[in-house]
Amino acid sequence: MGKEIRHAKHWDAVLHGWRDPILHFPTIIQKSGYKVVDNTGKSYLDLDSQGLVDILGVPVPEAVQAIKNTAEQTPFVSAMYGDTQAEINYADALLQQLGPGFSRIHFATSGSMAIEAATKIAKLVVDRELVVAFEASYHGASHFALSCSGQKDLCTPFHIDLADPAPLPFPDCSSCATMSISSASKPCVNDILSRLEEIGPSRVAAIVSEPYLSATCRVPCQQFWRVLKSYMEKHGILLIGDEVSTGFGRSGEFLGFNLWGVQPDLVVMGKGLSTGYAPISAVILTDQVAERMACEPFKNGTSFEGHAIGCAAASECLAFSKKADWLGEARRKAKILEEAMRKIFGTPPTRMLNSIRVFGLIAILELVAQDAERIKAQCRQRGIFVGGFHNYLRIAPGVFIDKGDLFHGLRILKEEVYTE
Ligand SMILES: Cc1ncc(COP(=O)(O)O)c(C=O)c1O
Repeated sequence: MGKEIRHAKHWDAVLHGWRDPILHFPTIIQKSGYKVVDNTGKSYLDLDSQGLVDILGVPVPEAVQAIKNTAEQTPFVSAMYGDTQAEINYADALLQQLGPGFSRIHFATSGSMAIEAATKIAKLVVDRELVVAFEASYHGASHFALSCSGQKDLCTPFHIDLADPAPLPFPDCSSCATMSISSASKPCVNDILSRLEEIGPSRVAAIVSEPYLSATCRVPCQQFWRVLKSYMEKHGILLIGDEVSTGFGRSGEFLGFNLWGVQPDLVVMGKGLSTGYAPISAVILTDQVAERMACEPFKNGTSFEGHAIGCAAASECLAFSKKADWLGEARRKAKILEEAMRKIFGTPPTRMLNSIRVFGLIAILELVAQDAERIKAQCRQRGIFVGGFHNYLRIAPGVFIDKGDLFHGLRILKEEVYTE
């Protein structure tokens, strides 16, 4: 085995992912938006939207009703035997929300599976072998999605080789004085284009990327995506826009890529689509990609593809969100989040903090030490959920969180950040 094995004295029947087995986690018996209660009666404020999933942060009663109705009428229909009205209706509603340029959707049940499908579509359409990703990105837990994730520590235990092609450096434009494309700022688009030249653009089917790195809030400058996309178009390379975390309003826009005026060839969405009511994810194809997929069967799919309950819940969540002007509210809340972070945490560097980055409804506290797990656990004890890993703490509240609750939660977080 070669590695030290920690023996826990007690364990649950469930082997959870992404959890330190020796830490305590509550048993949740009630959740109403961002307000959560455990089986001891203790309440929590969720400042992380359950890992960026519960984007709205409020209950959607229409989704509950739709789940009940669908479970009675078409609890499950396999894509191999037919469609459900719920799936057709949701595909139409989602395409309408996305606007012109997109015309087909492949549904799945997790972001990882949607990334798998999108990368397969790209390889089929372009008929090339490679999908290139960026350093420090994350695109999912399945083997290929993980191999596209530029995070060595996640890949190495599974013998996933990140060498060919090695991930590209993601620009850190906030540290660039001009916030514009210039050969002097590194790593910048010119370094990325040189790396692509080394790899050989004719081998590359697609680049998969978030519009900005949601895990660390690394945000490129305005020109970055346009310059890269025009190089990609010249060389026939597709852009797979991973909007699993940044989509559905997290950036203040329906798609984060809208902020850069760039349309990906394939868009992957998940998490927020049903604000967590049921598992659903989607790969959305532009007209051109859809046309190239029109003649042959797509030899891909999973048992629960296009599950009617997920589609019905997501339809209601989209309708509810539009009625509540959630994108407008997301932009207002993003400003409040930024103001709250600056007011409460001050201006780093400080004894505990290297930096604060806020973009849309995600704020990242970059800690001086790798203390995220300890601080998250302390916050849970104080009734606050925050996210993060290594030396990054993430605050990603739901769109409709109350301002007072947000400030209250952040003040507790600050106390825990400064408790050594
Ligand atoms: C940007 C991004 N892509 C893909 C995924 C994978 O989604 P899922 O966990 O639903 O498989 C995640 C999950 O955190 C993500 O943040």
